[in-house]
Amino acid sequence: MTSGSVPVGSLSIWDPIHLGTDETGRRACITLAERNMLIGGEPGGGKSVALQLITAHGALAPDCRLILIDGKRVELGLWADCADTFVGPSIDDAIDVMHGLQHLIDQRTDALLTMKRRKVTPDLGWPVYLVPVDEVAYFSATVGTPAQQKEFNAANRDVIARGRAPGIIGVEATQRPSADIIPTSLRDLFGYRWAFRCSTEASSDTILGHGWADKGYSATEIDPQARGVSWLRAEDGIPRRVKAAYLTDNQIIELADHAARARTRGTASATAASQAGSKVVRLRKSGDAA
Ligand SMILES: Nc1ncnc2c1ncn2[C@@H]1O[C@H](COP(=O)(O)OP(=O)(O)O)[C@@H](O)[C@H]1O
Ligand SMILES: [Mg+2]
Repeated sequence: MTSGSVPVGSLSIWDPIHLGTDETGRRACITLAERNMLIGGEPGGGKSVALQLITAHGALAPDCRLILIDGKRVELGLWADCADTFVGPSIDDAIDVMHGLQHLIDQRTDALLTMKRRKVTPDLGWPVYLVPVDEVAYFSATVGTPAQQKEFNAANRDVIARGRAPGIIGVEATQRPSADIIPTSLRDLFGYRWAFRCSTEASSDTILGHGWADKGYSATEIDPQARGVSWLRAEDGIPRRVKAAYLTDNQIIELADHAARARTRGTASATAASQAGSKVVRLRKSGDAA
């Protein structure tokens, strides 16, 4: 794929997002605008590449705003110029951004109720906020004090629990979403699951959902060399074996540059409705002065 073949205006966050190819050779797509997604699997399995695919679609969709959270910075960093906010290794920034999203959810929910609507639909013209988080364990269980981790987890859980209807969608990647990394009450809120290679059936089940390994859907039988091979549990709820698509670094740089330029042009002509749905929260870039 090159940026030349994907003009920025041609994608919408409401369109199916291309993730790869299944074992019958069919395209594997998901519609993300109303579902959150959890991505798991052992190191090197293909989680960050998977997150790049979704981020790329969001960046190229003018009706999507990106809030990127990546403690390592290197995975999502190439998309920083396309994002409203990019959070690097600071847990304070990650907490701030989650609180900002909670505020946005409150405001949008009030506005929806006033209009007697239950959820965002494309006709409203409000952008969808896509929030990819790579290695969420970095914030939920690694850096910061226990109190900060607790605050991050509580805010993250609230964003995932309430964000869908008002158009705030989380896509979170972690090696193993066990209860110490992602509280079970939060894990259960992710409608879509994408499991890359795992070393144990228990790990595979924490990603895909309890009982799938017993039914023959286990990410343990994925060859460690087969990077990008995975089980995707999405629309119909049954895991589907998928080889994820892949973007090279050069393709990402080209696409991100194209998307960033198109976004700068698009900002000048953004409609009033889109502005109304998007500027109620002030989120700042990590490292910016307040
Ligand atoms: N879908 C894919 N197709 C081809 N190679 C892939 C794919 N996904 C991952 N890889 C290879 O595996 C490496 C590790 O993938 P990555 O997404 O960084 O793993 P993780 O985030 O799970 O640790 C990538 O740098 C790439 O070389
Ligand atoms: Mg990774």
